[in-house]
Amino acid sequence: MSHLANRNILLGVTGGIAAYKSADLVRRLQDAGANVRVAMTHGATQFVAPLTFQALSGNPVHTELLDPGAEAGMGHIELAKWADLLLIAPASADFMAQLAHGMGANLLATVCLATTAPIAIAPAMNQAMWSNAATQANKEVLINRGIHQFGPGAGSQACGDIGEGRMLEATELVALCSPLFAKKTLSGKHLVITAGPTREALDPIRYISNNSSGKMGFALAQQARLAGAEVTLIAGPVQLDTPWGCKRIDVTSADDMFEAAILNAKKADIFIATAAVADYKALEIADQKIKKSTNELTLSLTKNPDIVAAVGNSKHRPFTVGFAAETQDVISYAQDKLKKKNLDMIVANDVSRSDIGFNSDKNAVTLISADQQITLDIDSKMNIAQKIIALIASRLAL
Ligand code: C5P
Repeated sequence: MSHLANRNILLGVTGGIAAYKSADLVRRLQDAGANVRVAMTHGATQFVAPLTFQALSGNPVHTELLDPGAEAGMGHIELAKWADLLLIAPASADFMAQLAHGMGANLLATVCLATTAPIAIAPAMNQAMWSNAATQANKEVLINRGIHQFGPGAGSQACGDIGEGRMLEATELVALCSPLFAKKTLSGKHLVITAGPTREALDPIRYISNNSSGKMGFALAQQARLAGAEVTLIAGPVQLDTPWGCKRIDVTSADDMFEAAILNAKKADIFIATAAVADYKALEIADQKIKKSTNELTLSLTKNPDIVAAVGNSKHRPFTVGFAAETQDVISYAQDKLKKKNLDMIVANDVSRSDIGFNSDKNAVTLISADQQITLDIDSKMNIAQKIIALIASRLAL
């Protein structure tokens, strides 16, 4: 259920090619029941005409700060008071810099200064601009000031580069805005979550790993934070930005992840294991690069510790949730793991399907506990995450 019904959302559009996605965002916010007005910077109007946003939102678009005519309608102070949420999407590097430094050079920037409503930004820019030290420093300033940051995602960019800096999709942004108005069902709770793959070294330069993107775990971390939880995210090697408001611990191997998880789970109320932990590691890691001197090479592997089972079987166990990625007999294998690993809940997903799961932005899952089985149909990982967190919160409240 969306919590955006009857909420006033001022969508701020700044200059970037992702502005075209914001046209759809207006519609998706309206579908969720929100009243939408749009303010654009001059840069944004070079990418998409204000008329597009006027037609979609059903309201005049706000672009001018110093135009007496425009200010006589709904000026920057009225707009700032009208909004229940300011969503800046796309937020360009330049706009993030303006916001970080409290500048008021245009209408949208002044509204940001004048509002008492929450502000959320969805950054979108070239990957090099995103990783630039100035942008990263501005990002930190904004996050520390309580501004929500949604994304960016990683992938191929309009400029031909590949990397972080893509604006999240409209449906993902709606799924992130909605919890801002929801009851904080996990406030006072500490959630620890593992995400991504692990990397098991064979020699100083080679390793065994898998294709896990970490997206499901990062989406769950973000939704738990939005639901009011304090979140510690233990991440294997992934190309994802830290979700807003979460504490991140980067690890490489299963042993590192085990150590961080056990230490942090002791203080946790909820533990979720989404990580695709490598089942085996090298029995011995070669000191030097392994040479291709023979036609055949045998690697001796040994089993990794089972992190979620260790947490599930610990003395002061938190509410413990595992994931089961299966290619066949999905439900029965998941039920088996629920018992064997002593979990409160397991999230089963069918990874034989190419449209969901590993490396996809979508998923479809079945949540299984001892007394309940709930299926969530195919949806964005962000929406699925929101529903999983809501279900965990309702189980904790019992
Ligand atoms: O046994 P399997 O790998 O299929 O179980 C999947 C679940 O167990 C996931 O929640 C995963 O994060 C967790 N797991 C773990 N440590 C391992 C292996 C799996 O926490 N060594």
